[in-house]
Amino acid sequence: MSTSKSIILITGANTGLGLLTAKLLSSSPSSSTSPKHYHIILTSRSLSSAEHAIATLTPPLGPPGPPNTTTFSALELDVTNPEAVERAVTYVEREFGYLNVLVNNAGVSPKLGGLRKDAEVAMGVNFVGGVGMTEACRELLRKGRGVGREGTIASHSIPPFFVVGKGAQKLTPPSHRTAPRIIYLSSGLGSIAIASDPTDPFYNLDVTAYRASKAAINMLAVQQAKILGKEGIMVFAVDPGWRATGLSGDAAAAKARGAGDPEGGAQVVVDVVEGRRDADVGKLVHEGGVHPW
Ligand SMILES: NC(=O)c1ccc[n+]([C@@H]2O[C@H](COP(=O)([O-])OP(=O)(O)OC[C@H]3O[C@@H](n4cnc5c(N)ncnc54)[C@H](OP(=O)(O)O)[C@@H]3O)[C@@H](O)[C@H]2O)c1
Repeated sequence: MSTSKSIILITGANTGLGLLTAKLLSSSPSSSTSPKHYHIILTSRSLSSAEHAIATLTPPLGPPGPPNTTTFSALELDVTNPEAVERAVTYVEREFGYLNVLVNNAGVSPKLGGLRKDAEVAMGVNFVGGVGMTEACRELLRKGRGVGREGTIASHSIPPFFVVGKGAQKLTPPSHRTAPRIIYLSSGLGSIAIASDPTDPFYNLDVTAYRASKAAINMLAVQQAKILGKEGIMVFAVDPGWRATGLSGDAAAAKARGAGDPEGGAQVVVDVVEGRRDADVGKLVHEGGVHPW
């Protein structure tokens, strides 16, 4: 398939924030200065779930004006399965030849009756799953530099990247209009600074394995923002905020306890995809700013 679209791959996109991110991207207004030429690959552990999700999105919605030309494809992908990850990369390589945005959204908050079991699952999906996706997609993202992003990114400038430490040097920033990006769905629950603050409303929330897996993602994002930044790939950790999704089992119960609407969380991801948070590269980005680590 030959295309100049921005190719966006979202893991765990059959429901929750992943699906809503696809929905917002495909329904946001297009304009002559910011046309929406996206192709979104919705991946899911179950192909039929991904296909069903796409059926809820097509045709792309949107206000009158220049058309939002978003298209979709479905892919089966369990991020803990290296063969499935490899198959996904082969598909993207064959169909498009490059990738502009990798949204590492797939996540779990397990409660299996023991910290060790919870840790194995949370680290396996949330952390190792993200690591595997990024590693496998790195070359595709490199090929996404300067391709398919024209006009999709906000026009403010981003700060130069720096390498810290011995031999520190100022690096040439990638063009923000074309910079490929990796987005890790993290959480303020993974901030060690926030977790140690007795005034934080979630101070006593005992989802230790989940919190540790998100802390690991935060370190990953910091490291990769430096390492992959040298290759022109921008890396972000994103906290969507506490949202009423099925993550903790029951969206309605979460809403009754005060969780926010899921669209607001997906909007933070969309803002990063579309370049409105480029000044926060390498940080833990949330709706109202950036979190301390
Ligand atoms: N909701 C919140 O309050 C909140 C707050 C902070 C961060 N986050 C993060 O946001 C992300 C999305 O969460 P959500 O709230 O949208 O939860 P969700 O509705 O439960 O969605 C999670 C998605 O991840 C998928 N998934 C789970 N294990 C997977 C695996 N091994 N391989 C591929 N996909 C897998 C799920 O697929 P199945 O449908 O097949 O299970 C589902 O599509 C997660 O990383 C979560 O930690 C959420």
